[in-house]
Amino acid sequence: MSKHNVVALLNQKGGVGKTTVTLGLASAAAQAGHRVLVVDLDPQASATWVLGLDPREVDVSTVDVLARTRAADAIVASAWSDDVHLIPASDALQARESGSPARLRSALAEVSRDYHAVLLDCPPSLGNLTTNGLTAADHAVLVVEPSALGLRGIGAVADLIDDVWDTHNADLELSGVILNKVPAVSGEADRRTDELTRIVGKKAVWQPAIPQRVILNQAIGERRPIHSYGARSAEVSAAFDALWAKLRRTIR
Ligand SMILES: Nc1ncnc2c1ncn2[C@@H]1O[C@H](COP(=O)(O)OP(=O)(O)OP(=O)(O)O)[C@@H](O)[C@H]1O
Ligand SMILES: [Mg+2]
Repeated sequence: MSKHNVVALLNQKGGVGKTTVTLGLASAAAQAGHRVLVVDLDPQASATWVLGLDPREVDVSTVDVLARTRAADAIVASAWSDDVHLIPASDALQARESGSPARLRSALAEVSRDYHAVLLDCPPSLGNLTTNGLTAADHAVLVVEPSALGLRGIGAVADLIDDVWDTHNADLELSGVILNKVPAVSGEADRRTDELTRIVGKKAVWQPAIPQRVILNQAIGERRPIHSYGARSAEVSAAFDALWAKLRRTIR
């Protein structure tokens, strides 16, 4: 029995922080002593790299799980924590543009009970890989930047969620929106946040938003969990702790 704890983090727009948010949540989970599985669905393999693996040296990857490999045979430990596991991406994902969307879903259903959550880091597109992710997910969480361009694409994402719900996965829910890269002082960002709130509703926008902070950039570059920076990352780490708690309530 699946626990309905598979969560896809997505947006067709690149660079909004899908990977940063996925890994921030994984860091918060590990800090709390909870177990997570990160599934890297992006051919860029950013999450794989940040979690300490070299994508060129990956043996068994998401590509294989999309084919016929069992999830248990693709899961590896991360360099971060015994509580953070990974199904890594490899270059071969690039070529993967077909296949049965239900395959990933059934594969993850065999392992999801071993984790508090399974986090799917989706690529910046609404193609086959994201469709696979949404088909496997119980919850879709959008990562959005509060800018004019950041808001433009979200209608298309909502349409894809609708479409996957219709054709492949009636369990799928658009469970929330995480705002990322919020500048300290910006009338423009405030207006865009208001606009987003009008579009998706107040309850759909998870609190707190994640501020724009150099330490997040640095953590990604140094391939370290955000919680490992102590006082320097306290504010951002606390934001991820609160979002992880919110995610846990959403799953239950
Ligand atoms: N809140 C933030 N503050 C500062 N920098 C951030 C923040 N969130 C993300 N970044 C930086 O922005 C860049 C893009 O982030 P990230 O790779 O997480 O986005 P993405 O949506 O996963 O990108 P892609 O679409 O390519 O997968 C990275 O350099 C990251 O360090
Ligand atoms: Mg990414």
